[in-house]
Amino acid sequence: MNILGIETTCDETGVAIVKDGRTILSNVVASSVNLHKKYGGVVPEVAAREQVRVIIPILKEALAKAKMSTSQIDAIACAYGPGLIGSLLIGVETVKTLAIAWNKPLIPINHLIGHVYACWLELTTDYGLQTTAVDSRQSTVDFPAIALIVSGGHTDLILITDHGKFQFLGGTRDDAAGEAFDKVARILDLPYPGGPEIEKLAGDYNFKQSKFNLPKPMALGDNFDFSFSGIKTAVFNLSKESPLTSSDKAEVAFKFQDTVCKVLIKKTQKAALKFQVKSIVVGGGVAANKFLRQKMQEEGKKNNIQIYFPSIEFSIDNGAMIAACAYYMSKKASPLFLKADPSLHL
Ligand code: KG4
Ligand code: ZN
Repeated sequence: MNILGIETTCDETGVAIVKDGRTILSNVVASSVNLHKKYGGVVPEVAAREQVRVIIPILKEALAKAKMSTSQIDAIACAYGPGLIGSLLIGVETVKTLAIAWNKPLIPINHLIGHVYACWLELTTDYGLQTTAVDSRQSTVDFPAIALIVSGGHTDLILITDHGKFQFLGGTRDDAAGEAFDKVARILDLPYPGGPEIEKLAGDYNFKQSKFNLPKPMALGDNFDFSFSGIKTAVFNLSKESPLTSSDKAEVAFKFQDTVCKVLIKKTQKAALKFQVKSIVVGGGVAANKFLRQKMQEEGKKNNIQIYFPSIEFSIDNGAMIAACAYYMSKKASPLFLKADPSLHL
């Protein structure tokens, strides 16, 4: 089954064709990230205008790369929320039109669940640290599983008992993990998006006795919620106490990354043990972080739980994860009535 997936929730325009939820026949992504750099964050109006400009060329390119005509497409899928309304509308109205014009079923996908299904695309147990991927046809994620979604807008823990069966366990009460990376980067005078910049600056430092003390937010307690605004404020206060030298900034970047990752890992492992799951899947832009990948892997080994990350390319927004997710979802939408939902819940 060939599914065409479209992703336009924020500043990426992604169109992909994926066979049987696993094999990527084409995957084209355009990003307007460079247009937002000078503003230090995504400008919704600019992102939406770029979506309009590139959606049709990207769609044509995805079909051409897969060497496919529209008659070989079995269904069309689209992320219809959560996200920025202007950006979402472009993808949603495009797929509604295509579904009618091509007479294909339309599968609506929650963007966050799409991030989770990036792990099914080309199952890899190498955490992006090496290059060899496990043969996707021999390996599958065993349920029950815990999904950790860490993106620019969300930090969610979800229990998955089967395809399409999700239970929300907890989420961020304030800033999402990616948002905190972006804001701390700005405090440290690093460009947007901040996650990869902090990772680069933190490098391989390991300040065992750091002179900077950062709070470990909500690491304890019975719940599965997160809070990252306190640690962001702590970095802000540090930067105001005295000017940070470049080596101070590297140390703060390392400390921040270390603390956020440890909290994410601790809560994920706690959920995994409580619900006695077989697997952990991690998705969203922050899943591109190699430090998180490595530390998560180390903890997973201790507890004998298999951990899955998408390859780095599929951690950030793309159409392939939407097409992969759609293969496992049974819900269809009417091409006349599907509506973009910026605050879509699970
Ligand atoms: O999933 P995504 O591409 O878009 C949303 O759905 O939000 O995530 C973007 C977020 C940004 O906050 C970005 O800073 C963060 O993912 N990010 C990273 C890394 N790469 C991207 N955070 C930490 N380390 C990275 N290597
Ligand atoms: Zn995303």
